[in-house]
Amino acid sequence: MTRVARRRPVWHPLPVARVDRLTAEAVAITFDVPGELRADFAFRPGQHVTVRYAPAVRRSYSICSTPQDLDKTGKIRIGVKEVPGGAFSSAGVRALGAGATLEVLPPLGTFTTDLDPARTRRYGAIVAGSGITPVLSLIATALATEPHSTFALLYGNRAAASVMFADELGALKDRYPARLQILHVLSREPGLSPALSGRLDRDRLELLCDAAIPAGAIDEWFLCGPAALVETAEAVLRGRGAPLVHTELFYAGPVTAPAPPVGNADDVTLTVRLDGRESRTTMPRDGRVLDAALAVRAELPYACKGGVCATCRARLVSGEVAMARNYALEPDDVAAGYVLTCQATPLTPEVSVDYDA
Ligand code: FES
Repeated sequence: MTRVARRRPVWHPLPVARVDRLTAEAVAITFDVPGELRADFAFRPGQHVTVRYAPAVRRSYSICSTPQDLDKTGKIRIGVKEVPGGAFSSAGVRALGAGATLEVLPPLGTFTTDLDPARTRRYGAIVAGSGITPVLSLIATALATEPHSTFALLYGNRAAASVMFADELGALKDRYPARLQILHVLSREPGLSPALSGRLDRDRLELLCDAAIPAGAIDEWFLCGPAALVETAEAVLRGRGAPLVHTELFYAGPVTAPAPPVGNADDVTLTVRLDGRESRTTMPRDGRVLDAALAVRAELPYACKGGVCATCRARLVSGEVAMARNYALEPDDVAAGYVLTCQATPLTPEVSVDYDA
């Protein structure tokens, strides 16, 4: 599969083609991607886009459609789980319909793999709830691209009625009966067996990764869902010698706003490069680089402000920073000098970051 080059994300208005209800609390939103934006919205399975509903309301949602869908139909589809009282994912979604237009950032994310038709791999995924969204794209793309590869999915939900993309998963199972294994685990109603009934906790993961989807038989794992599930599943798989584990958090715990800076406003000189133009400002030594940069370049990209989405990624050109947390950058990104500016605090009197890199 061709690697899609990463560009600095820029907002684009995308028309909503349709909104499909998946469950009582989840929908899929399909966007039309105009021909002139197809290159910007080219993506790899497993990536996400950021949607801007109001100037300060930005949310990242994984893409559930495939790169082939975009090539053939010019459409891209995301899965949205509604959060009661959520600024976008409740009232916003319920008011949304075909013909609306939303501001969307092009795809980002490293929760993916390089697919190759000549390769034979055994893929596995452990997901819960809306964590299925990027994995649906990975399953469909991997099985279509690599005719000899297989995919095993362990999918946790409260009840059968809350399973997102149940029809799409069923259709994939019909298309690839011998290459796709799906195990549904239900926590609040009986599953197909006692082993598939209950929470996806450590005991159940150990049982299922020894018996149903032996961890050692899988070449490459994908884990997506709440932090507790992803961290437990990763520990279980690593303990069983899993060679390659990709993780994606939908929610990394509460995003507590950093304590108000107590340093002086001119402790650090910050230089920001964006769209080929440099801006300079000063900031306290205990402030966050993104917050200071937004004061002089309000158009800067960001979404979660929690170290999860990578939308605020920039390259550190000079100086040093410390990141409070990082759930989005791979070790090779960090080694190449990339930082999450929403999490970065200066360690030197001068810091320069480049959002164009
Ligand atoms: S805005 Fe999401 S990681 Fe910084």
